[in-house]
Amino acid sequence: MSSILLVTSSPRADASVSTRVATQLAERLAASQPGTKIARRDLVSAPLPHIDGDFLGGLFSPEDQRSVPQQKLVDASDQAVEELLAADTVVIGAGMINFSIPSALKSWFDYVARAGKTFRYSEAGPEGMVKGKRVYVILASKGIYTAGSPAAPMDHARPYLKTMLGFLGMTDVEFIDIEGIGLGLEPDEDILDRAESCINVAADSALAA
Ligand SMILES: Cc1cc2nc3c(=O)[nH]c(=O)nc-3n(C[C@H](O)[C@H](O)[C@H](O)COP(=O)(O)O)c2cc1C
Repeated sequence: MSSILLVTSSPRADASVSTRVATQLAERLAASQPGTKIARRDLVSAPLPHIDGDFLGGLFSPEDQRSVPQQKLVDASDQAVEELLAADTVVIGAGMINFSIPSALKSWFDYVARAGKTFRYSEAGPEGMVKGKRVYVILASKGIYTAGSPAAPMDHARPYLKTMLGFLGMTDVEFIDIEGIGLGLEPDEDILDRAESCINVAADSALAA
C-alpha cells in the first residue's frame, strides 16, 4: 500500500490556495491508486515549536537524561521523521510570506532534519537519507517569481525548498506554481484553472509511471 504525506502550512485557513490545491493533488493521487493512505500534517492547526534550548538539549542528551519538556520535543521530531520516512509521496503546500516559506514550514524542516535519521555525513560529504520519494510542492505567491521575471532574485522560498529537500535526499521534486493571485494581472480563476490542469497532469503521469 502506498502512502502520501500531505504537509500544509498556510495561515490563511479556507482562503489558502496552496492548501486547497495541495489537498486536491493528494486526493487525486490517492484516488488513482486504490489503497493509498493520506497522512495529513497541518502545520498551522498543530504547529511544531521553533527550535529552542529544550529541543537542542533533548537531541544532544541520552534518552534517560532528558527532562520531560526535552523528551516531548524529541518525540514530536521523531514522529515527524517517521511520518516522512513512511511516505512514498510527499505533497507540500506553501504560500510565500515575506519572500520565503511560512515559518510553520521552516519549523517542520527543523524537526525532520535529524543527523543519523534523515541525513548523515559520509566521507563524500553530507548525504540525504530520505530517498525514493516523489515530492510535489505547491507554491503560491502574489508576485511573479518564475525564472526570468524581474522579481526572481527575491524568491527565497523555492531555492530554500530545493536545497532543504535535496539535502535530506529528496531530489525528485516537482514545483506547481500558483503565481499572481490577487495581483490583478489576470483573473484568479484563470490562475487556479491552470493550477488544476497542472495537478491533473501530475496525477495522470504518476499513474502512468
Ligand atoms: C504576511 C504575508 C506576507 C506575504 N508576503 C508575500 C511576499 O513576500 N511575496 C509575494 O509574492 N506574496 C506575498 N504574500 C501573498 C501570498 O503569498 C499569497 O496570498 C499566497 O496566495 C499565500 O498562499 P496561501 O493562499 O496558500 O495562503 C504574503 C501574504 C501574507 C499574508
